[in-house]
Amino acid sequence: MERDWYDTPLYYDIIFDADTPKDGTFLEAAYQRYSIGRGSRRLLEPACGSGRLVSEMTWRGWKVSGFDLSQPMLDYAAKRLSEQHLKARLWQDRMESFTLPKPQSFDLAHCLVSTFKYLLSEAHAAAHLNLVAEALRPGGVYVLGLHLCDYTRTTCEHERWVGERNGVRVVCNTRDWPADKTTRLEAVRTRLRITRDGTEHVQETHWQFRTYSASQIKSLLRKAPAFELVACHDFTHDITSRRELDDSYPDIVLVLRRR
Ligand SMILES: C[S@@+](CC[C@H](N)C(=O)[O-])C[C@H]1O[C@@H](n2cnc3c(N)ncnc32)[C@H](O)[C@@H]1O
Repeated sequence: MERDWYDTPLYYDIIFDADTPKDGTFLEAAYQRYSIGRGSRRLLEPACGSGRLVSEMTWRGWKVSGFDLSQPMLDYAAKRLSEQHLKARLWQDRMESFTLPKPQSFDLAHCLVSTFKYLLSEAHAAAHLNLVAEALRPGGVYVLGLHLCDYTRTTCEHERWVGERNGVRVVCNTRDWPADKTTRLEAVRTRLRITRDGTEHVQETHWQFRTYSASQIKSLLRKAPAFELVACHDFTHDITSRRELDDSYPDIVLVLRRR
């Protein structure tokens, strides 16, 4: 069955929530290490999805604001906050054109797991970076995690995750086709196999991501001059291990600081 996986937030969350505490620790460590000055722990999460990190960072004492395009994901995030007796500001908006519900300055912003690649044009990607830069105080940081593209690849890549919660088991298989160098788009498919109450069903989602090499990211960053690139890490989210921003390793986490 073809279905947008963001219309079924529980299944997304079962798969992606496993690393949330580790992600939260990394975000706090990146803030400690790379921000300049200390603010009032205001955090912005563009495309906050099911709110796994909204809850985690609120629980850690951050004043969190998050937005997303998907209302089912936002509803799920709001429900989790309420069940945990936590409060955060959530609203529906787009990464490329968001407006803050009230004027305020953030200390930290983040967008992990390649979510940024949903912005399919250079104009939208640059607009997003400039909007986040405007929302941050000088010295504040934006942590941006994305998978770089290997344009020489000619075969599909697969990844598989398995998660289980309260008797619901989800097996997630993603397939990523070789990128089109000219359009800078790659096709992605995720297939979820869900087992609950003794029955199994399968749902598939297809979408496209914008692709980036290391030099394409550097070129994009020149269109957001309010940011300086201060560090590059990877998806292990280990603050002690740094990388160069080059094409030697695909899963990168950039730390951008607002000038
Ligand atoms: C992979 S999830 C990431 C959610 C969350 N940040 C996390 O780390 O778990 C991607 C999210 O991006 C949202 N999204 C995709 N395109 C968007 C856009 N243009 N503006 C806002 N949200 C968008 C989807 O609705 C989805 O919730």
